[in-house]
Amino acid sequence: MTAEQPAGSGAEIENLMAEGRSFPPDPGFAARANATKELYAEAAADPEAFWAKLARERITWQEPFHTTLEWDLPFAKWFLGGKLNITENCIDRHVAAGLGDKVAYHWIGEPGDTRTITYADLLREVQKTANALKELGVGTGDRVAIYMPMIPELPIAMLACARIGAPHTVVFGGFSAESLVDRINDAQAKLVITADGGWRRGKPVDLKSAVDEALTRTPSVEHTLVVRRVGDAQPGTAMTAGRDLWWHEIVDRQAADCPAIPLDSEHMLYLLYTSGTTAKPKGIIHTTAGYLLGTSLTHSWVFDVKPDDVYWCAADIGWVTGHSYIVYGPLANATTGLLYEGAPDTPSWERWWQIIEDYKVTILYTAPTAIRAFMKQGEALPRKHDLSSLRLLGSVGEPINPEAWLWYHENIGGGSAPIVDTWWQTETGSILITPLPGVTTTKPGSATFPFPGIEADVVDANGASVPLGSGGYLVLKRPWPSMLRGIYGDPERYRATYWGRFPGMYFAGDGAKRDSEGYLWLLGRVDDVMNVSGHRISTIEVESALVDHPSVAEAAVVGKEDPLTGQAIFAFVTTKAGIETGDALAAQLRDHVAKVIGGIAKPKYLIFTPDLPKTRSGKIMRRLLRDVAEGRPLGDTTTLADAGVVETIRAGAGGADDE
Ligand code: WT7
Repeated sequence: MTAEQPAGSGAEIENLMAEGRSFPPDPGFAARANATKELYAEAAADPEAFWAKLARERITWQEPFHTTLEWDLPFAKWFLGGKLNITENCIDRHVAAGLGDKVAYHWIGEPGDTRTITYADLLREVQKTANALKELGVGTGDRVAIYMPMIPELPIAMLACARIGAPHTVVFGGFSAESLVDRINDAQAKLVITADGGWRRGKPVDLKSAVDEALTRTPSVEHTLVVRRVGDAQPGTAMTAGRDLWWHEIVDRQAADCPAIPLDSEHMLYLLYTSGTTAKPKGIIHTTAGYLLGTSLTHSWVFDVKPDDVYWCAADIGWVTGHSYIVYGPLANATTGLLYEGAPDTPSWERWWQIIEDYKVTILYTAPTAIRAFMKQGEALPRKHDLSSLRLLGSVGEPINPEAWLWYHENIGGGSAPIVDTWWQTETGSILITPLPGVTTTKPGSATFPFPGIEADVVDANGASVPLGSGGYLVLKRPWPSMLRGIYGDPERYRATYWGRFPGMYFAGDGAKRDSEGYLWLLGRVDDVMNVSGHRISTIEVESALVDHPSVAEAAVVGKEDPLTGQAIFAFVTTKAGIETGDALAAQLRDHVAKVIGGIAKPKYLIFTPDLPKTRSGKIMRRLLRDVAEGRPLGDTTTLADAGVVETIRAGAGGADDE
């Protein structure tokens, strides 16, 4: 693990912290808030008792648990002996309580078509789909890959899997066929649930052909189940007889009754692949009861969700944010949510504001990259719409710069809605560092404090706590219910990646500072992982995609600060002898990366260099390349094998080709 200082962590953060603007909770909001400040003390006094009490209160158990936690560092088991079904908690119990007619999702397709899914609808559709899965030979424990647009069948498919205890692995629709192959093979998925396509920026985006391409190299897959979404707008969807089945042909004729199977608390709910510091993505394992508790509890306390709220988490379900805060957390709390299929700029940059006005959305949860994109369009657009229904705003995925925070506060939140800046990860399952609205005084740019029951710390390179006012590495010092249970098929990598850097502590991979009042300020990744638009991409993944191209001899990739996407991908490429470099090849290489990984991994900057800076032992010095990418003076170059090489690169980078 290279533990270096994250880019941009120095003077900037000092200025931020010194700025001193703070926003105390509004007393009116505080009087009705779901969370109270006493929760911190209660949780700290006895964290296990705190979690156990909440697990009893919030979860509907088919059999109660007898042991709260078994902690065999780094392997945790929560709520042992308990049996439950997460779909019973997310659907059946609400219908039984008389909420069958309550809307679970208001769905809006990009072209403007809409659907309303009540809890009774959800119960029926999930059971039918679960029966279809059974008919296709999927049983408890079998893995199912899901590669879908943002349509109601996506949460329905996930819940149908959960109903019969078949772990799902959702692959974001923007990932390539090759990325799909890796994930399907690692998970050994038996079934792929997909769609003919989805709508994005006014056009159908084909998904089924990517699945077809993937399926030439995924022997574990027996069937695909295909939702007809774009239909005639994209003719010619190929269906392989015996293998591919239309959703409407098989799901619609199923019985609407499929009992929720009682599953162990630790039954695997899903795998979600995320980038680490090697080229191979990690299959993060989440299990049932702890994950349900973590997501439903944080959803209630952090977003202060009440029965009449209209809640919109604008993430894609393909990422963990969607799993936890579009599907499981909100449904467990019987929330009415909004699901939007398409792009924020289609047909115009007013789309979101129109949706908020039309549906009287009360809570909005999105990423800083989206906020900055809206900022760029100016405040006149949101001002044309009635956003007065909004009473709480959330941010996630990357550090939010105070300028974006203040813009969000003023222009979207009407200067009064509290903002919750929530820090967490695919691995943590649920929000761990966050303000509690109505309780916490916020400071723009700070995620503030650990959630009750969570013990976070900032430590130095030796694992010792740093004093207030200093920076270091963010660690977690105690297991928590929604934590990952491991990396699928690779317990050693799990131990080494998260628990190997500081003995006994979970190392998140982020740098952080704590100000004089103990507020936490996240500084970004300190490993070889970039954060582009709130999405994690490994430098090494992009490098290996580049090197996979026949013209490329060597490549090095770094993150460069970007005013819109937080970080942008900057690639330094050395070609093989005799290859002609230029714009045409640069374009080809970018497309190649998109083909290997997906559009999100396309380098924004790509320059050709005759050589890369290396140590005498041959290790690429990314630190120097970051200096070059940022246009900073070079750091220490004494360990370079060939000191001239950086100057050559720097001369070339002046004209870095920005797509
Ligand atoms: C990484 C996790 C958690 C859902 C979205 C991303 C960064 C996340 C914040 C925040 C500063 C943040 C961290 C973290 N991150 N939230 N509020 N402030 N940084 O999930 O893909 O697992 O990425 O996102 O660097 O390690 P992910």
